Amino acid sequence: MVQTVSAKKTDKHVVFTRGLKVLSPAHKEVKRLKKDAHLPSIHGDKVWNSSFLVMDYLARNKPPKTSTMMDLGCGWGLLGIYASNKLVKRVVAVDADADVFPYLALHQEINGAKNIDTLVRRFEKLKKSDFDGVHTIAGADICFWDALAPVLHKMIKKAIKAGAKRVIIADPGRDPFYELVAMCEKDKALACKVVEKTTTKPKAACADLMIVTPA
Ligand SMILES: C[S@@+](CC[C@H](N)C(=O)[O-])C[C@H]1O[C@@H](n2cnc3c(N)ncnc32)[C@H](O)[C@@H]1O
Repeated sequence: MVQTVSAKKTDKHVVFTRGLKVLSPAHKEVKRLKKDAHLPSIHGDKVWNSSFLVMDYLARNKPPKTSTMMDLGCGWGLLGIYASNKLVKRVVAVDADADVFPYLALHQEINGAKNIDTLVRRFEKLKKSDFDGVHTIAGADICFWDALAPVLHKMIKKAIKAGAKRVIIADPGRDPFYELVAMCEKDKALACKVVEKTTTKPKAACADLMIVTPA
């Protein structure tokens, strides 16, 4: 059970951005979760910068208010929390690593986010029915190994076939991400574009966003 968590403006381990409170890995509540042996093992051990650029893109390219968004490879879940608080009716936060979800729950509490369902599932194991009612699928920093490019391409095809209207994957420029872009660009069932985004908040960052829609 999460106790009342302090997230004051004066706390140097809390970042305030885009209406969110984001705890740093050095925050005492995060350290407490680590001590309780919640040790994410596939890089879900902090909030990655590309997620802020996806938030900015979604703020200007909004999904329908009554829709469901999937936060893919959610890690600590800030992208889904942002969407739940500002954009959509429901969020499904998906990750292969069950140990990320206590960090999501902690951030959900301090940000007062409702209507977030969680699903422990690998990208490659997502079923057609997991995309039921999902309009937008967004994933930040999730294509970082060569093996993930074909896995995500196959999953994107399945999601679009199941009725998803848009898939957004963001990455700061790793080779597997561009392999994924090449696969989606070649695929006649998909329409694909890449846009470059930058931000200075909460720190300087840039990422390419691949936006995939049905062809
Ligand atoms: C670099 S972290 C990014 C986390 C979050 N999206 C963010 O921006 O802060 C990558 C996340 O993808 C998850 N992940 C990696 N491979 C996965 C797979 N095959 N299926 C589902 N989740 C996966 C990891 O557990 C981790 O939480």
